Amino acid sequence: MTGAGSADAFDGANFPQCERDGKIFLDVCALDELPRKSGKAIFFDDETQVAIFRIAEELYAVSHICPHQHVPILADGLLDDLTVTCPLHGWMYSLENGKALGGGAKLKTYKVFEESGRVWLEQPKRIEPDWIMDF
Ligand code: FES
Repeated sequence: MTGAGSADAFDGANFPQCERDGKIFLDVCALDELPRKSGKAIFFDDETQVAIFRIAEELYAVSHICPHQHVPILADGLLDDLTVTCPLHGWMYSLENGKALGGGAKLKTYKVFEESGRVWLEQPKRIEPDWIMDF
């Protein structure tokens, strides 16, 4: 892997990059591509997918993969206030900190910002699935 940052980072070869506050950000889409009542999923690999939400004029980015049954679905979740609810079994997560409401699960959160009509997402670290880390 040829990450611009740490060895754990994606190289972001498919996305234009910039640096801000010591982090690498990737230009993942136009602001207009973000739907108003759902999210947009950004695919990096099977284990690393990010759901970006636009609520009012704020952007939020959390893992797209619901930890309940490890399903990439949260960009299609139901939005209410600053939460997203998984459409499969109803687990609800804060978009601000990724924590499940009423449970111990937590989504990875990412920094995200808009500039000149483009959406810039913090370069995600590669996530190794649990079954690989057990060896
Ligand atoms: S897969 Fe999301 S709540 Fe079950």
